[in-house]
Amino acid sequence: MTADADIVDGLRAAGLVGEGDVVLEPLTGGVSCDVWKVETPTGPIVVKRPLPQLRVAAEWLAPVERGTSEVRWLRRARGGDARIAPEVLAELPGHAFAMRFLPGCPVWKDELMEGRVDPGFAAQVGTGIAAVHAATAHNDGDRADFPNDEMFRALRVDPFLLYVARHDRELAPALTTLADDLVSRKIALVHGDVSPKNILVSADGPVFLDAECAVYGDPAFDLAFCTTHLLLKAVWSGDSRMNEAAAALVAAYRAGIDWEDDGGLLLRAGKLTAALLLARVEGKSPAPYLTDPEHKRIVRDQARARIPAPEPIDALVANWKRTIA
Ligand SMILES: Nc1ncnc2c1ncn2[C@@H]1O[C@H](COP(=O)(O)OP(=O)(O)OP(=O)(O)O)[C@@H](O)[C@H]1O
Ligand SMILES: [Mg+2]
Repeated sequence: MTADADIVDGLRAAGLVGEGDVVLEPLTGGVSCDVWKVETPTGPIVVKRPLPQLRVAAEWLAPVERGTSEVRWLRRARGGDARIAPEVLAELPGHAFAMRFLPGCPVWKDELMEGRVDPGFAAQVGTGIAAVHAATAHNDGDRADFPNDEMFRALRVDPFLLYVARHDRELAPALTTLADDLVSRKIALVHGDVSPKNILVSADGPVFLDAECAVYGDPAFDLAFCTTHLLLKAVWSGDSRMNEAAAALVAAYRAGIDWEDDGGLLLRAGKLTAALLLARVEGKSPAPYLTDPEHKRIVRDQARARIPAPEPIDALVANWKRTIA
């Protein structure tokens, strides 16, 4: 394995590794970053370095400064509860950083795809996301620390909402209004990528990774984003426990809302969930496992029906069907 000289120098300067050979072992096929595991005298660490262009079929350019946003999010989340994010050990050249490696913690997506569906864990995810939102709501300091509107537009609003609007004349007005509403709300610190593939299952509950899209914005987005993944997996697997997990996530999140009226937030999250569901079958970033045309139809039909006639996310989840005639 070729050790990247800048990264190794940075690790040495931070005192994380000694003068001997340093092996950077690639961790995953991440599309947006190089992610390596590195053995150090004090245990394994993870080094993550953002790529200037994402490794996906359609071209996505993304500023590497998102590495610094991720570090900020991880530190801020740990400030409330140290169990919910990995400890950042050092910032490195190129907006890279080192964090502690969490051993023996599977990725939640892998657990779900293998049929290990635990609504209790989903509830802990809801509680964890809501805790970060509650801790940062209406906070000028956090707002100033995450001035990432442009990045959030480029990586979330445009590919997920506006891309679909450009290809669907009928739904375009509703989707454009939804996108405008989303970017206008400055309520709390949003993670921006709360997907089961970015959550580790630890003995102490969920650990959130991959906060490159963090922005001060509408907390409904995180709830909608994660719920969308569970509803897609409900259709893919046909397993009613996925619906139960989605309901548990929403209920636990709702119990943590103390910064605004929950009715308003749940309705915004319902609208966003419908749009994100459609984006995952029609958009720029389709769910890779939803390849069966029948599964796509089930998602598309339910999502399209709800965009012009939105319902709060708890109702959307309760009414979500895994099969339709
Ligand atoms: N601190 C950590 N401890 C253990 N494993 C980790 C840690 N950080 C990352 N990983 C592993 O590396 C994977 C990729 O990490 P991350 O999601 O941060 O990178 P990414 O390049 O943004 O990925 P992707 O684009 O695929 O979402 C995680 O799914 C997880 O398996
Ligand atoms: Mg990831």
